[in-house]
Formats: sequence, C-alpha cells, structure tokens
Amino acid sequence: MGMKRRDFLKTSAVGLAAPSALFSGVTIEPNMNDPLILSTWEHGLPANDAAWAVLQKGRSAMDAAEAGARVPEADPKSTSVGFGGLPDELGNVTLDACVMDSTGNAGSVAFLQNIKHPVSVARKVMEDTKHVMLVGEGARQFALAQGFEEMNLLTDESKAAWEKWKKKRREMTPHETHDTISVLVQDKKGDLAGACTTSGWAYKLHGRVGDSPIIGAGLFVDNEIGCAAATGLGEEVIKTTGSFLVVELMRQGYEPTAACEEALNRVIKKHKGNPDFQIAYIAIRKDGEIGSACIKWTFEYALARDGVNKLYKVKGMI
Ligand code: GLY
Repeated sequence: MGMKRRDFLKTSAVGLAAPSALFSGVTIEPNMNDPLILSTWEHGLPANDAAWAVLQKGRSAMDAAEAGARVPEADPKSTSVGFGGLPDELGNVTLDACVMDSTGNAGSVAFLQNIKHPVSVARKVMEDTKHVMLVGEGARQFALAQGFEEMNLLTDESKAAWEKWKKKRREMTPHETHDTISVLVQDKKGDLAGACTTSGWAYKLHGRVGDSPIIGAGLFVDNEIGCAAATGLGEEVIKTTGSFLVVELMRQGYEPTAACEEALNRVIKKHKGNPDFQIAYIAIRKDGEIGSACIKWTFEYALARDGVNKLYKVKGMI
C-alpha cells in the first residue's frame, strides 16, 4: 500500500500551508487489494454492510457506494434520508442526491419528490443522459420513465413530528437534522467512487436544495488523488465548495484529516471562530489513508475494512 508515497507525505509539509506546486503532478501510489468503505453517521454501518457485500462480488466502487446509500434511503427510521425523511415546512419530503465515479463522471437529482431511491435516479442521470443534474418535477418524470415507482415518503412518525413543529413553529437550529448519508468507497482495484443522499434540513423552505446534490460541495471524487464527502449544514458547505476543497488540499500534500480540518477552518473563520452549526467531512486518499473532522460537538463515521465494520467518534475542532 503506497508506503513510499505515504512516508513522503508524512515527512513533508503536512498540515501546514504546503505550496501547491510541490505535489502537483505527483502520482499517489494506489491502495490495491485492500477495499474500504467510509460512511457518515451510525446509519453508515448498515450502509457499509450492503456496500461490502457488493465489493465481495467483485463489483465496482460505484456499485458499492450506490448499494450502501440505498440502505438508509429505504429505512423509515433514518429521518434525514429518503423514505421517512422529515419534510419541508409545507409537509413535503424533498430529496437531494448525487453520485460520482472513478472516471470523474457524475449525476445528481435535487428537490425530487415521491421517489424512494434518489441515489439510483442520480446514477441513471449520470449513465443514461448527457446531463449531470435534474431537479424537481423534471427529475421525477425522468425517474418514472426509467421505471422507478412513485410512493408517499412521509411516514406517520415524520408527519407527526412535522405537525408538532408546525404548532410551535419554533426556529430550527441548523444542526438539528442534517444526518446526510455519504458513502465513499475504494474497491480492490484502487478505484474510488462516492454517493450522497439526504432529505436535507428538516422543515426547510419549500424548494430549498442543500449541498448533497452539488458536485464539489456534498461529494467530490478525483481518482488520482482521493474523494471526500460532507454532512451538516449544506448552505455553508456550498459556499466553500467543501468536498472539492478537501480533495484539492490532499493534492497539495495535506493528510486526509488535515485536509478536512483546513476545509472546516475556512468556515470557522468566516463565522468568527464560533459557528453554531455542524459540518463534518470524510475523506479517502488514493493510497488508502482516511480522514475525518467536524466543526463542533461530535461526529461519527463508519469504516469497513479488513472485514471489520466499526463506528468511530470524531471530536469537534472548537
Ligand atoms: N447536508 C445536507 C443538507 O444540508 O441538505
């Protein structure tokens, strides 16, 4: 597993303001025959199990990432993703998702309603159209034409939570319901891919779209360098092009965790050192090193590697 490259990175200007030219053009030795899956939050555990099963069949990182993301999408207990997701202020469940593969191809859907697996619709956009992104009614029509079934995604539990919120109409603090599932995968060939899917900020304005379907914000994959994904307050991830930034920082020589921290530093600085919201990043570098960081409180990621699938806690930077 790319030891030379990793040693070089470790003994270099890691975590510091590494001059970008120092590393540009250098190929990171790929991690081969050591597949891994890195996902956000506790619902990452069952997602990783599903993704791992796909990798065991010799299928691609993209197949595995999609299979993983579909698990919380279908789980009504995951109230920030897919079926059972908390609705917007009008009571509509609206979904955002994207995928990106090892060739740099990408697909995405935003503000999609009544379709249980937006991540698979995003993959269809990537593979069966000339476009990257479809939104709203157009995305729904596309999904139906592709054979996806329509269904009501608002469960009794999520409806009850929304009705309770409506009665009080209390101001939602932006960290309450942002448990996006992002799944990053490196397959045994060393190829990278990712998927990201969410119902977004609970009780958001009707029409709001977060970072999760925005390539470079919620997810970015560069098969030469690494991949990264986000969870948390999408508005702030979009404004800093978060996942793209993490990958570019890895390109400049930052270790994966240092890259996540530096991307978050940009947000923390903008908010005078004390933002009242959460963002977390996860990252895989091409040589198989992983990293993660979050702004505050704690964050958990699930890592499946060497046949072990485990949850790890990350402490906030502030
Ligand atoms: N990160 C998910 C969202 O803000 O919608």
